[in-house]
Amino acid sequence: MKMIAAVIKPFKLDDVKKALNDAGVQGMTVTDVKGFGRQKGHVELYRGTTYEVNFIPKIKIEVAVPDEKAEEIIRTITETGRTGEIGDGKIFVYDLLDIVRIRTGEAGKAAV
Ligand SMILES: Nc1ncnc2c1ncn2[C@@H]1O[C@H](COP(=O)(O)OP(=O)(O)OP(=O)(O)O)[C@@H](O)[C@H]1O
Ligand SMILES: [Mg+2]
Repeated sequence: MKMIAAVIKPFKLDDVKKALNDAGVQGMTVTDVKGFGRQKGHVELYRGTTYEVNFIPKIKIEVAVPDEKAEEIIRTITETGRTGEIGDGKIFVYDLLDIVRIRTGEAGKAAV
């Protein structure tokens, strides 16, 4: 299994969420985050406001998928999250050791 953590522009959340649902993901976790990429110190626009500080508001989406789904999900996020401007975000992919569904105690792929 893989844990896919994508940092995206906040206004892209609805599009990405819909595309992930259409791709059949079983769940996702969304967090408000802030960060910066390689233009640190340079400006980036967020809701019409120019931020000259380092940290720009972003959304992090985490979705756990079986290995065979990972490539499709990464492609889906890349395509729907892209504006072509700086700050579109990044996708981090981790090997996921285990998942446990607390209600039933199921583990591994059965718990995705
Ligand atoms: N190396 C990194 N480590 C951790 N988080 C990162 C890293 N790079 C980017 N991020 C996170 O992703 C967000 C968006 O990064 P961003 O898209 O600006 O990356 P970039 O490498 O500067 O690409 P671009 O040139 O397209 O802007 C950052 O605000 C930060 O939250
Ligand atoms: Mg950047």
